[in-house]
Amino acid sequence: MDALKAKYLDRIASAADEAALEEVRLAALGKKGEISLRMRGLGGMEPEARAATGAALNALRDEIDSALRARRAALGDAALDARLADEWLDVTLPARPRRQGTIHPISQVRDEVTAIFADMGFAVAEGPEIESDWYNFDALNIPGHHPARAEMDTFYMHRDPGDPRPPAVLRTHTSPVQIRSMETQGAPIRIICPGRVYRADYDQTHTPNFHQVEGLALDRSLTMANLKWVLEEFFSAYFGTRVKTRFRASHFPFTEPSAEVDIQCSFEGGAVHVGEGDGWLEVLGSGMVHPKVLRAGGIDPHEWQGFAFGMGIDRIAMLKYGIPDLRSFFDSDLRWLRHYGFAALDMPALHTGVAR
Ligand code: PHE
Repeated sequence: MDALKAKYLDRIASAADEAALEEVRLAALGKKGEISLRMRGLGGMEPEARAATGAALNALRDEIDSALRARRAALGDAALDARLADEWLDVTLPARPRRQGTIHPISQVRDEVTAIFADMGFAVAEGPEIESDWYNFDALNIPGHHPARAEMDTFYMHRDPGDPRPPAVLRTHTSPVQIRSMETQGAPIRIICPGRVYRADYDQTHTPNFHQVEGLALDRSLTMANLKWVLEEFFSAYFGTRVKTRFRASHFPFTEPSAEVDIQCSFEGGAVHVGEGDGWLEVLGSGMVHPKVLRAGGIDPHEWQGFAFGMGIDRIAMLKYGIPDLRSFFDSDLRWLRHYGFAALDMPALHTGVAR
């Protein structure tokens, strides 16, 4: 027993690595290991000798086992020390350059628009993109038979016969948020609502999903003059140059009177330059909120009046950043995004100058 013990403890102590140690373990304690074989031989012994030899063999096996463990741990520590001494990392080195994503021009323009209107006291309101036909049409004085309902190329949500829920549409404009805001905030009110809208239309200047920003201001004595001032302030801040507007009489069921608004521009050399020349470009619809719409929003038209407008975000993004094709906004083409996108830290704010 003593010779066995001395032999294996010695071999364990001199094992230079994990593999050598494993060899020692197999030789002693493996299935065909020397100690295992001896233990198997116990069966053929006299009972007394078997008890004594068995106990001694068990003790020897335990001792070798713990010596193996201790040596394994020591080898592991030594290996770690060697790695620590050998491998190292300079954490002060600059990181490897990595392509960063960019902010989509529509997101950037939405933030620019928000910053400018916030400076004029407008809060941001939101509403659902799946809207009931009441909010999208009826409450805005567009009854069921009204041609505007057909003109808007509306996407209707599927409805099983007998479905008790009101018909729902993908909102065709941001105007339903006017009603929702009147309901929740009452008057006076000053909000804008930037968001996605949907119409079943697709060509070079139309995409089934596009973006609008709605504006709504109600107070006791607001007029078209206030509307014109707000819009000219907005366009001048947004384009970074004084921009004239032209109001053309128009018709919307939810405003009376109604006006389509053009901004001044030149078309020289195939490019559009806003704020110069004697051309005009239509950018929004607007007017004084119709009394019926105020009533639908729970607001007394004898006490309150104001203006509303709806502007195409994609359109004004194209104008400011010289983006020629509306459809490219929705292609998710990485080269396009890298070219027209903005750095994440390039946050629009009036004090930094919204026009970059
Ligand atoms: N909702 C109208 C449209 O999508 C725009 C608009 C909004 C007109 C508010 C007047 C007042 O065309």
